[in-house]
Amino acid sequence: MTLRNKQIVIAVTGGIAAYKTAQLVREVQAEGAQVRVVMTASATSFVAAKTFQALSGSPVAITDNGLFDQAGMDHITLARWADLIVIAPASANSIAKLIHGEADELLYAMCLAHEGQVAIAPAMNQQMWSNVATQENINGLRNRGFLIWGPADGAQACGEVGPGRMLEVSELLQLVLSRFENTAFAGQHIVITAGPTHEAIDPVRYIGNRSSGKMGFALAEAALAAGARVTLVAGPTEQICSPRIHVIHVETAAEMHLAVFQQLDDCDLFIACAAVADYRVANIAAEKIKKHSEHLSLELEPTEDILRDVKQAQPKLFCVGFAAETEHTIEYARDKLVRKKLDMIIANQVGSSEQGFSSDYNAVEILTADSQESIARMRKTALAPKILDAIHQQLLNRKENSNVRYLKKSHST
Ligand code: PMT
Repeated sequence: MTLRNKQIVIAVTGGIAAYKTAQLVREVQAEGAQVRVVMTASATSFVAAKTFQALSGSPVAITDNGLFDQAGMDHITLARWADLIVIAPASANSIAKLIHGEADELLYAMCLAHEGQVAIAPAMNQQMWSNVATQENINGLRNRGFLIWGPADGAQACGEVGPGRMLEVSELLQLVLSRFENTAFAGQHIVITAGPTHEAIDPVRYIGNRSSGKMGFALAEAALAAGARVTLVAGPTEQICSPRIHVIHVETAAEMHLAVFQQLDDCDLFIACAAVADYRVANIAAEKIKKHSEHLSLELEPTEDILRDVKQAQPKLFCVGFAAETEHTIEYARDKLVRKKLDMIIANQVGSSEQGFSSDYNAVEILTADSQESIARMRKTALAPKILDAIHQQLLNRKENSNVRYLKKSHST
């Protein structure tokens, strides 16, 4: 029961996905948490407050009416009580109100008064989600430290297909658990690379790849949640992360190499998730290349291998690589593990839109010199904490083994 003694407010706004939130209340409670439900007035037209009252075993707060506080200050009482507020579903309207700090309903007033984290699980029509107003609001909330969980892509209640579905209850539960689960990397400095690199051909063109940065950013968030100080060296990407993560933006492999090496002094763990270009153009054209002939040849030269160089420079540093392969995934990944002298490699099969490059989903094989673990396809945000768990377990095993070796040695002398 990971959530024992945790106090969680589940806040419901007006959206058809509210019916799923009833199950979320059950599942969060089953993990040992105490749950209080807060609803907006419009949410009650989708699911009755009595449903949530019966499930949570507590009165549901819709207005300040002294249910939780004799002085009629429920929003303050709940804001102080909550270890975490989860707004699910979060409608476009509620997101707009949150960014403006409105307080015309108990739910919004409570969020304003809450000092801890607020997570929101957006749910709306795909056009409403893609609308620039909603996107600006979401990015603004993310920059203020709100956790944005989802939305998922797929069939919608309105009949359209696209991004805007609320995440499934099981996915939301995993995300709630990940907020409390572990302090495995407390006080440690983790350096992560993410995204693609762009290698210039001329002032307007570059060689790049399809990496979106989603996997690396999810790892950075998971590392932060596990107590680490995180430095994320990111190639060109649209991803946004918590302001508590130190992001260094780079464009080329050479810049990524330099930025990583500047972070190595006090680094405890290095995770190379970036899809770094293996080659760059040897002679970058100073002016835009004009179309003079049918054929154009570019001379390429190898880029710096960041991961190999880091391991060479710091052999004792635990280094994790990624291997994106379209075939012979395990075989090629194992080859990279050995050649780059890595401690662990995460192999992912790429080449379809279902997982890997650009997708929200991934499935991986975690390989070390003497182990192999499969993790089935899931959202990158859910996968990232599992990868960190596997790394943590390896670090613990190593510590235990070196203690045993030390004890044996001192016993024999
Ligand atoms: O960004 P997303 O859209 O979420 O997609 C995630 C991902 C598919 C990009 C990610 O999961 C992944 O697999 N990243 C590694 C991609 C890759 O092609 O790796 P590679 O086989 O070229 O390189 C092996 C390892 O060496 C990687 O850890 C890589 O970061 C590192 N490397 C490679 C070349 C180089 N010059 N320097 C490096 O550090």
